[in-house]
Amino acid sequence: MKDALKTLEKESQAAIDQAKTLEDVETLRLRYLSKKGQVSQLMTQLRDLPAEDRPAFGQAVNTLKMAIEKALYDQKQALENEALLARLDQEKIDVTLPGYRFYQGAIHPLNQVIEDVEDLFVGLGYEVAEGPELENDHYNFEMMNLDKDHPARAMQDTFYTDETMLLRTHTSPVQARAMLAKSGQPLKIICPGKTYRRDDDDPTHSHQFMQIEGLVIDRHVTFGHLKDALLTMARHLFGPDRDIRLRPSYFPFTEPSVEVDVSYVKKDGSTGYIEILGAGRVHPNVLRMGGYDPATFQGFAFGVGVERIAMLKYHIDDIRHFYTHDLRFLNQFKGGGQS
Ligand code: PHE
Repeated sequence: MKDALKTLEKESQAAIDQAKTLEDVETLRLRYLSKKGQVSQLMTQLRDLPAEDRPAFGQAVNTLKMAIEKALYDQKQALENEALLARLDQEKIDVTLPGYRFYQGAIHPLNQVIEDVEDLFVGLGYEVAEGPELENDHYNFEMMNLDKDHPARAMQDTFYTDETMLLRTHTSPVQARAMLAKSGQPLKIICPGKTYRRDDDDPTHSHQFMQIEGLVIDRHVTFGHLKDALLTMARHLFGPDRDIRLRPSYFPFTEPSVEVDVSYVKKDGSTGYIEILGAGRVHPNVLRMGGYDPATFQGFAFGVGVERIAMLKYHIDDIRHFYTHDLRFLNQFKGGGQS
C-alpha cells in the first residue's frame, strides 16, 4: 500500500512538471483529484487495512493529495506567467520602426483664388450668389442684353444642349437671377463658378474655365465706386503697391465698359500692365429687365477669369495644368496661402 502511495507521488510530480498547457494541468487534476481519480481510489483501499494502520494511511493520502494540489497550482501559475511574458514580448512596441505617412491634401489653386476673393468681398458686405452651369439662353444672353441675333453672341462660342439650354458662357446670368430674386432691392453680390466655351484647348484657352462675377446695384452708384472695388481687389490679390489702368471696351451688358489691367514691374524696372478682367456700369436695359428703374438705380459689374488670376499670381504658363491633375503641379500649392 505504501508503495502504491510512493509511486503515485513520484508519477504525479513528474506528470505535472511536464504539463505544457493549462489544459494539460486540468487533465491531470481530473486524473488525480476527481471523485473517481487515483487519490480517491487509494482512499477506498482504506477499509482493507487493519484498523490500527488506517489513521496513518489516511493522513499519508491526505498529504499526497495536498502535495498534488500544490504542484498543480504551481504549474498553473508557471504556465500563466510564461503566457503573459510571451504576450508582452509579442506586443512590445518598437519605437524605432518608421511611422505611418499621412498624405495631406491641399486646396486647388483655383479654389485658393476664389476663397481669397470671396474673403475680401464678404468682408466688404457682398453676398455670395450661385447659379446653374446648365443655363437657359434667356438668362445667359437675353437678360444680358444680347437678343437672338445680336452679333456679340459670336464673341462667346456656345455649347448648346437644345434650342434653349446651354452651358453658361460666363457667370453674368447670375446677375439676372440675383436681380429678379431681390425684386428691386439694392444688392451686392459676387458669384464664382464654372463657365464653358467652344474653344480649342491650348496654353491660354480651355473649353471649361472659371469666373468670378461681381454686381452692385443701388441708388447713386458711380463709376468711382467701380474703380475703388477694382483697385481694392487688384491690391488684395497682387499686393498693395499695384495700380490699375482702365481701357475702353465693349460688353453688351455694361455701358460704358472697360477692360482692366493691373500694373507690374518689368525685369528692367519699368512698369507694365496686364489685362485681368472686364467691367462696366450696368446697362439700363439690363437694369430694366432685372426689375430696376434706371432713373433711380445704377450699378456696376465685373467679371474676372479665375485661371488668369491664378496664372499671374503663381507664374503658371499653361492653363491646362489646372485640369490635368498632375500631382507634381498640384503639390506645389500646399499650404493654401498667399504667394
Ligand atoms: N461676362 C463678361 C465675359 O465673360 C465679363 C464681364 C462681366 C464684363 C461683367 C463686364 C461686366 O467676357
